[in-house]
Amino acid sequence: MSIGTVLHPPLASNVPAEARDFSVKDRIVLVTGSGQGIGRELVQQFAAAGSVAIVADLSAANAGPVATEIRAVGGRALPLEVDVSKKESVDSMVAAVLAEFGRIDVLINNAAIFSNLKKRPFDEIPPDEWQRVMDVNVNGAFFCASAVAKSMRDRHFGRIMNISSASVHRGTKNYLHYVTSKSAMIGMTNSLAREVGPHGITVNCIRPGTVATEVAERVASLTPEIRQRNIDLQCIPRTIVPSDLVGLAMFLATPAASFITGQTIACDGGYTHSF
Ligand SMILES: NC(=O)c1ccc[n+]([C@@H]2O[C@H](COP(=O)([O-])OP(=O)(O)OC[C@H]3O[C@@H](n4cnc5c(N)ncnc54)[C@H](O)[C@@H]3O)[C@@H](O)[C@H]2O)c1
Repeated sequence: MSIGTVLHPPLASNVPAEARDFSVKDRIVLVTGSGQGIGRELVQQFAAAGSVAIVADLSAANAGPVATEIRAVGGRALPLEVDVSKKESVDSMVAAVLAEFGRIDVLINNAAIFSNLKKRPFDEIPPDEWQRVMDVNVNGAFFCASAVAKSMRDRHFGRIMNISSASVHRGTKNYLHYVTSKSAMIGMTNSLAREVGPHGITVNCIRPGTVATEVAERVASLTPEIRQRNIDLQCIPRTIVPSDLVGLAMFLATPAASFITGQTIACDGGYTHSF
C-alpha cells in the first residue's frame, strides 16, 4: 500500500453534519462577569466569531464599554447589569435576553469574587466575607443555570460552562473561601450534567491556571513571586493570558462538542497535568 492511500470514503455520508460543525455563529452567548478580565475576552472573541454576546456584569460601568467595543468592530452585543447572587436580578437578566433574542444558547458562569478578594488565614475570614463569596461564586452559578434551563430544554439545545480554578487541585493556603467555592463548580458540573443531558444540554467546567488579565496588578492574592512559581510548574512555562481559554470555551459551545458533558477540563499550560 503506497503512502497516501485513502482508507476511508472521502465523504462519510453517515456522519451527522453536526460532528464537523465548529461554528458558534448566531449563538446567543451569555457570559456573566464579562465586564473585565477573562469574561471580557470571552465575549469579545465569541462576538468576533459571529455570536451575539450578552455582556452581563455587576458593574454596568464596565459592561457598557465592553459592548461598545464589540459593536465598534461590527460585532453584536447587549450589555446588562446583574448581580448573580440575587435570584430576582438573574431572572430579570434572563428575561431581558429572552425578550430581545428569544433564546439563550450558551451560558458561561464566569462571574466571581476573585480579583478583589484578600487572602487571609481561614480562621480570620469574617463570616460575612465567606458568605458573600459563596453567594456570588456558588449561588450565582446555580441561579443562572436555573434561569436559562427552561429555554434550553424547550429547544433541546444548550451549553453551560462553569469556571473553576487550578487552585482547587493543589490547594491554596489563606484562600479557603475562594477555593471552596471553585471546588463546588466541579460537583455542580457533574450533577447538573446528569439532570439536563437528556434535554440536549451539556454542562462542562473549565479549570484555568493563573491567568494574567488586564486587572492582574490589582489581584491582591497573586504576587509576582506566586505568578512566577506557578509558571515554573507549568509544562509550557509562559504566562497564561485570557485568550488561552477561548479555544476551549468556544469548542464546548459548538455542535461538534454535543457529546462532551460532565467534564472538568484544565486549561493551564500543564500546571495540573498529573491530577
Ligand atoms: N484570573 C485568574 O488567574 C483565574 C484563575 C482561575 C480561575 N479564574 C476564574 O475565572 C473567572 C474570571 O476571572 P477574572 O480573573 O476575569 O476575575 P475578575 O475579578 O477580574 O472579574 C470578575 C468579574 O465578575 C464580576 N462580578 C463580581 N461579582 C459579581 C456579581 N455578584 N454579579 C455579576 N458579576 C459579578 C466583576 O464585576 C468582574 O467583572 C472567575 O470565575 C475566576 O474565579 C480566574
